[in-house]
Formats: sequence, structure tokens, C-alpha cells
Amino acid sequence: MKNKEKGSQMKNIGILCSGGDVSGMNAALKRFVEYSFAKGLAPYFIYNGFEGLIDNDIHQAGYHDVAGIISRGGTKIRSSRSKRFMEEKYRRQAVENLHAHDIKYLIVLGGDGSFKGMQKLSQESRGISFCGIPATIDNDIAGTEYCLGVDTALNVIRDAIDSIRDTASSFSRAFVIETMGRQCGYLALVSALTSGAEMCLIPEIPYELEKYQNAFRQQMKEGRGYFIAVVSEALKNAQQISEWFEAKVGIESRVVILGHIQRGGNPTVYDRLMAFDFVTHAIDGFLRGDSCSIICYGKGGFHAKKIEDVAFKEYEINPFLLRLGKEYGHQK
Ligand code: F6P
Repeated sequence: MKNKEKGSQMKNIGILCSGGDVSGMNAALKRFVEYSFAKGLAPYFIYNGFEGLIDNDIHQAGYHDVAGIISRGGTKIRSSRSKRFMEEKYRRQAVENLHAHDIKYLIVLGGDGSFKGMQKLSQESRGISFCGIPATIDNDIAGTEYCLGVDTALNVIRDAIDSIRDTASSFSRAFVIETMGRQCGYLALVSALTSGAEMCLIPEIPYELEKYQNAFRQQMKEGRGYFIAVVSEALKNAQQISEWFEAKVGIESRVVILGHIQRGGNPTVYDRLMAFDFVTHAIDGFLRGDSCSIICYGKGGFHAKKIEDVAFKEYEINPFLLRLGKEYGHQK
């Protein structure tokens, strides 16, 4: 199939979103369409993630598709977690669909599970180049310090904790606030630090409740009226910690599970800008000849890394942040 808008000499490039959606994906789609045209490429949207790749839900994209979407969370082309994509026969179908649309480049926005799927596709296809853009609120991808959507999620959490603090301080209560993040404590740790929480429990840092107990009881004697505890969903202990506040610290307590509000909302300026940068580097990489890479962000800026160095390694939280997090366990 030849692209309809610009003539057959343009190379076709596709994009899909996979796994949990993040705010900033729409900004990435906008940049994708505009920068593709600027570079003489014909952009295609693959709707519904890898599911849409299997089902041939692939459509040429134009400026009209991305008008007005930059301020919206989620993703206009939808996302999915595809079980079928684990099976070779469906991946074969996906490759056939890419060839049928003559797509030479494919960008995948997602997390490491999506990148592993992308790598399989790359090994099982010829003549198609692939590039991953880290996009998950969990910020749990090795090799990159930043994943698209994290800043918006952190700002949503900050707003929620600031509101909860209002009622906590008015009512003399403890609030145990659970954040998302899967097995990674990044969201909980950064949120606790930047919201002035009194307690932060994440899987990366061992904790002893007794240490908190003595300190918190003493603080209450000295006039402290409320507590904010931020706990990572990985620990599955929000209810237990709330009961501990009531039984051992002696303060009424409530649990707030922030849940999926963390995944949505108006993308921050930072996420819009990062979306533009990630997509620009992905497309520039293709034009340089990169065939299967992940665009990573670190102190030195953006780098295309080999997929093996990203999707198959464990993410470790920045040691300095962890050092700050450990101070929670040493309450005075
Ligand atoms: O990976 C993003 C994430 O939001 C995690 O933080 C969370 O554990 C999971 O997805 C929730 O998945 P679902 O939307 O399928 O409930």
C-alpha cells in the first residue's frame, strides 16, 4: 500500500502506544506527525497498541488527527496490554500488516514489557527499524532517568497530598496514601520527599515500624497533630499501616488509594517538551540508520541505547534519592 498524501517515494513510519497510558502521549503523537512530514516521511497511527498491529488497525495520519490534542492526557490512538502478542503466530500477522502498509520505521511508546515485544518483532521481521520511547508513570526502566508521563503523575500526586494535608491537619488524623508504581518505589519516594510527608515506605528501603512508633509518639506529645504516610503499591500494606497508626501511635487514621487518577490529567509543560524531544530523537535515529534502539534520557541528555541494555536490566532508583529516602527510617 502506498501512502496516499505525498506520493510513493516517501517512507512510511508508524507509531503505537502500549501498556499503561501516560499524559504526554498525545504531545508525542503531535510531534510524530509534524516531524515526520518535516523529514519527508508519511506518518501512520497504529490504534490500540500491539492488538491493533495484529488486527491491522493501521491508518495514515495527518495534521487534522493531532489538532488540539496536546493538552489532553491519555492517548488518542489508545493503548492495550496484548496477550496475543506473546504468541509467534500473532506477531507474524503483525509483521505482515506492517509490510502491507510498507511501514519501514515503527516507534513504540511503552514500558519494558512493550520493549521486549518490540525486540521480538525486530528479530522476526526484515526491513523494518524499531525504536522505543520510555513511557510509564512507574519510572522503572533501566538506562533512562526519565520516562514520559512521570512529571504529570508526580504533580497529580502532589495536588492530592496537598489536599489531604488540609483535612488531616484540620481533623488530627493520620493519612496513609498509596501511590502506583508497580514494583518500583520512585513515585512514592519523590512524592513523599516533595510533599513533606512524615513517612515513606517503598520496596527498595527496608523499614522498622518500631523506630517510627517511638518517634511519632514523642512528636505527638510535643504537639504534632497529624501524619502523612506515603506508601508504594508494591508493599500492599496501606491498610496494615493505617491500623498500626491507630493501635501503636494512637491517632485516628484513614487510607487513600490514589489509583488511576495518577495516570491522567493535563500533561505538564515538562512532559510536553520531553514528548517532543523523545520523538525527535527517535526519528533522527531512524534517519541515521538505527534499527532497534531505545531513546534514553540522563544527565548528558538523550541517547539511543541498545534494547538489551534497557529492557532486560533492572531499574535502580538514583542513589542520592534513595539516601534521602533512608532518612525516613531514622526518625528522631
Ligand atoms: O504501569 C503503569 C501502572 O499504572 C502501574 O503503576 C499500575 O500498577 C498498573 O499500571 C495498573 O494497571 P491497570 O491499569 O491494568 O490496572
